[in-house]
This record gives sequence, structure tokens and C-alpha cells, in this order.
Amino acid sequence: MAQIQALVFDAYGTLYDVYSVSARAEALFPGHGAALSQLWRTKQLEYSWLRSLMGTYADFNRVTLDALRYAVAALKLDADEAAIAALVGQYVHLTPFPEVPAALKQLKPGRKLAILSNGAPGTLNALVQNSGLAPRFDAVLSVDSIGIYKPDMRIYRLAEERLGVARENIGFVSSNCWDAVGAATYGFTVFWINRLGAPLDLHGRAPNHIISSLDQVAPLLGPAP
Ligand code: LAC
Repeated sequence: MAQIQALVFDAYGTLYDVYSVSARAEALFPGHGAALSQLWRTKQLEYSWLRSLMGTYADFNRVTLDALRYAVAALKLDADEAAIAALVGQYVHLTPFPEVPAALKQLKPGRKLAILSNGAPGTLNALVQNSGLAPRFDAVLSVDSIGIYKPDMRIYRLAEERLGVARENIGFVSSNCWDAVGAATYGFTVFWINRLGAPLDLHGRAPNHIISSLDQVAPLLGPAP
């Protein structure tokens, strides 16, 4: 493996559990929490891709809100504005996956660590601060400065440019297979955390490594550079 000088992480679904909103959703809409959080996430990603294709970028807060309104309507839930606001507000309080804090600490020495996310900058920074993980990162990068969503190649280039590390020396970690394929196609060394045992997406180059949790990255990298 090329020497990995920097590690770049996806945020939602990779470091932070987007389905951690389902407890709040379940409290608001008993019996529908899991379905609502899943449809919400699916639509959120669809809207990000559709807006990228249409050339009508709006930030991820807007995409997230629109997707929630769709999901609520599709499931015929009686959601008032307070419930909508409470659910969207969860995005600054998502739970990191259990192994994440210790794994980041182990990966840090000798390497730059960064987040590269669809998230709107304010929301993303608040989440990273609230989770206590901010000191681990050299950069928190949002697609917002480019105005298009992953997996557009310009987004992966942003990480390369901002970190000042060549793509062959960047390791990219994502649980979202479509994002892992995008990053591998760009030329990063990619670790796909297949948390859910999903099949591989086939729209581009396959990730270099398929693992099941973040703590499996460090042993694959060997000693820090
Ligand atoms: C992100 C989405 C892809 O954090 O999960 O960019």
C-alpha cells in the first residue's frame, strides 16, 4: 500500500450514526421511528444527487429538511413544525459509532485527519464540537464551498488540495459504498466500512479494503509515517 499521510472520513453513517435520530422519531411517532429515519436518509441522498444533476445546489440543511417533509408525507404522519424542527435539530447531536473516538485517537499520530462531508458547514462543525471529536481533526471540509455533492470528483479533489497531500497518499474512509466507490475512482486508497453487510456498488472502481468497523483501519496501515 502507498504510504498514507492523511486520512479523510465521511461523516454521516461513517463516524456518526444517522439512524440515532430514530429514537427521537419513535418518541414523536410511535411505531414509525425506524421507517421514518430510513426513508428520510434515503430521500436525503436522492435529493443530493438530483440537485447535483440538475445544477440546483442548495445546502444540506435544505436537502435534509425537504427529505424529512417528503418522508413524513409518504408515511402519512401528522407532523407539526415543532416535530420537524426537533428531528432536524438531531443533526447536531448524532451519536458517533461506539468504536470511533478510540479509533481516531489511534490513527492520529503522524497523520493528518479530516472530515469531508456533504454537511452544511455550520451544522457539521456544531456536530463535531458537540461530539467532543473536534480536537482529532486538522480540517472539517464541506462540499458547500464547491456547490455540488459527492460523488462529484471535484469534492474529492477539494480534500487533496486543502490537505496538500497527493491523492495516492490519502486514505479515504466511508460507510457509504457509493461514496467509497467515488473516492476509489478518484484515486484514493479506500476503506469501505460495510457496517450493514451490503453488496458492493458497481458504478466505478471498487474500494481497496472492505472492513466492518473503524478500528480495523489502523492494523491495515501499519506504523505511522
Ligand atoms: C456525508 C454523507 C455522504 O457525510 O454521509 O457526506
